[in-house]
Amino acid sequence: MHDSVVRDLELARGRTLGLTDLDEPTLVAQHDPLMSPLVWDLAHVGQQEELWLLRGGDPSRPGMLPAEVDALYDAFKHPRAERPSLPLMPPVEARAYDHEVRGRVLDLIERTPADDLFTAGMVVQHEEQHDETMLATLQLRQGPPVLLERRSLPPGRRVEPDRVLVPGGPFTLGVDAATEPFSLDNERPAHAVQVGPFWIGRVPVSNRQWLEFIGDGGYERPELWSSRGWTHRTHAGLQRPLFWTGHGTRRRFGHEEEIPPGEPVQHVSYFEAEAFARWSGGRLPTETEWEKACAWDPATRSRRRWPWGSEPPDPERANLGGLGLRPAPVGAFPAGASAYGAEQMIGDVWEWTSSDFVPWPGFTPMIYRDYSVPFFGGDYKVLRGGSWAVAPSTIRPSFRNWDHPIRRQIFTGLRLAWDG
Ligand SMILES: [Fe+2]
Repeated sequence: MHDSVVRDLELARGRTLGLTDLDEPTLVAQHDPLMSPLVWDLAHVGQQEELWLLRGGDPSRPGMLPAEVDALYDAFKHPRAERPSLPLMPPVEARAYDHEVRGRVLDLIERTPADDLFTAGMVVQHEEQHDETMLATLQLRQGPPVLLERRSLPPGRRVEPDRVLVPGGPFTLGVDAATEPFSLDNERPAHAVQVGPFWIGRVPVSNRQWLEFIGDGGYERPELWSSRGWTHRTHAGLQRPLFWTGHGTRRRFGHEEEIPPGEPVQHVSYFEAEAFARWSGGRLPTETEWEKACAWDPATRSRRRWPWGSEPPDPERANLGGLGLRPAPVGAFPAGASAYGAEQMIGDVWEWTSSDFVPWPGFTPMIYRDYSVPFFGGDYKVLRGGSWAVAPSTIRPSFRNWDHPIRRQIFTGLRLAWDG
């Protein structure tokens, strides 16, 4: 347990340093009002690591930074819009601070009993989540490319039929510490639910399908949209996914390129996903349906740790870790299929579900109380499965992400479902 936590901390830090190995103007600029300057994320991951692991989660306990500097990195005190105007530590100081915190944390972990490592695992996931956020920031940034693609992805294949049946019956939704020690509070506890029969897409919706939706007037037909969705579509002037141009190309990390038809569509909002689903004669899955299709093994009547079984993710089964800088084409991972035959549920694109973000019955907040609690019952829809930009340590079939239904700067796509 110690070795794997230390390895995951090091992997996360390698990614953070790689994504911020950029010139100072690029790090201190705010590339979009939705995002922090990268130099804020760079110091915030260290500040949170210090807070949760070295200060017991108590911000009033003196830390390594002067109190007024420490407070600059409190996400609840300083919304993203005001972060560029704060007197943030310059990149060289932020890196030195992160390094100093990490040294003390590694000493502490050596002395920590194995069953007390949850908070360290939570800190790993926090840093990896910010690494994904920094990739979203770099995708929003204007200007020449600064990131290199360091992984090639397997080719897609034609997938038929396009959907799989998940028969009705009981399912264990959520997980416990015993099976998923680093699961976060909103994934727990495991509890039995009944799920009616449904069909679910074998693979995520592709750019080819999205181009057909556009060609069929999908963005012009109010009857396909919810009333909130249509109002938003009209005010925001939506005509195509974010980063698509009006002439058949898209911008991706500073490159303009042809839209690859076989890739899962990404950078669509919940409202667009909902309209697409109605146009196609389907609907979005609920998050319970999604999790059952991903993790349930009807033969053993138990959950699998991963869709394909218990072995950890590898490049034959899922596109994770961010090195490819894009989703893999649909059909690229037949070996990653779930018991029901659904593919690419882990990695590639976050998938919108029709579910609001609410606690599971018996929910108990973790040490980072404000991770989930302030967001339950808000204007959020749940996303599942993780994107190409998430780390294997920070995604599981039970992992729940959430965002406002208008958001599309994250690496979001969708998978269809149909009543059974
Ligand atoms: Fe954070």
